Amino acid sequence: MKKKITLIGAGQIGGTLAHLIALKELGDVVLFDVAPGIAKGKALDIAQSSPVNGFNVNLSGTNEYEDTKNSDVIIITAGVPRKPGMTRDDLLEINLKIIKQVAEGIKKTSPNAFVICITNPLDIIVMALQKYSGFPKNKVVGMAGILDSSRFIYFLSQELNIPPKKIRSLVLGGHGDSMVAILGSTEIEGKKIDELVKEGRIKKERLNEIVERTKKGGAEIVKYLEKGSAFYAPAASGVEMAESYLKDLKKELPCAAYLNGEYGFKEIYAGVPVVIGSKGVEKIIELNLNEEEKKNFAKSIKSVQNLLDSAKKIDPSLI
Ligand code: APR
Repeated sequence: MKKKITLIGAGQIGGTLAHLIALKELGDVVLFDVAPGIAKGKALDIAQSSPVNGFNVNLSGTNEYEDTKNSDVIIITAGVPRKPGMTRDDLLEINLKIIKQVAEGIKKTSPNAFVICITNPLDIIVMALQKYSGFPKNKVVGMAGILDSSRFIYFLSQELNIPPKKIRSLVLGGHGDSMVAILGSTEIEGKKIDELVKEGRIKKERLNEIVERTKKGGAEIVKYLEKGSAFYAPAASGVEMAESYLKDLKKELPCAAYLNGEYGFKEIYAGVPVVIGSKGVEKIIELNLNEEEKKNFAKSIKSVQNLLDSAKKIDPSLI
């Protein structure tokens, strides 16, 4: 049986997700959007590329939750993206309302799905989605860390003139300006980044600039695009999570997951390394962070907690 993957939101990220999923033949794709024409049009356009690209999956578009029923995976991008000058947090009120509708829709039709949330502000929206839907916490996860890590690795690869595949790193914490690049877990061709700094291959100041650019990586793209936010790299990151679940690859991926004491925090979603397999989030990996990383991680969680407080004021049912 082919798997069924529903994409709630058929905008920039939703359309790119559909294309990548079709090219990888991960399963049949249902594009859902409140604007049904967008969903149907993109589904048809991508389907018409199947003779050229040789994939064999079914693509359809809808605005009826009934058509999404019994999905194996649901990826949510429904919501409003940023405009230049906005932070992700500015999207809170409007996207909370949208995510409530989405949760109502999917809990009736696909109660067993693995749900990946991409809508911003990510850590709060994924948490609200879990609360509104009542889905198990290991089946609701947010996409951010893979994207942030990918941006950091890309910038390092450009700086050092080394292929991205030879670089390993992780960016953890909240998906905002407080995100934390874990330099202690950053390795270039098997060597710790600190050693490269000692050897003079990269100056500490330059490394700091790259960390800062990573934190503002999304805003840099919003500024260029003017009318929306990044979509190719976010979609690629979401697909990696879906694939690890569908194929039980048990990949270690940085994702926004529910913390229940791990890293010293409880009852909050934030970016940490997890294992994704056929049971969903199968494990949270606890890294040994150094003192500075711990401090920055705690600061990042604090900003997620502050935003959560704002969300609870908007909707007391989140308390
Ligand atoms: N149900 C389903 N779809 C909805 C709903 C809803 N209640 N409300 C809005 N949408 C749809 C819009 O019609 C639009 O097609 O969500 C889509 C969002 O697409 P874009 O505006 O192109 O936004 P995109 O760039 O894909 O980003 C989506 O992901 O990364 C985040 O910050 C980003 O929150 C934003 C989200």
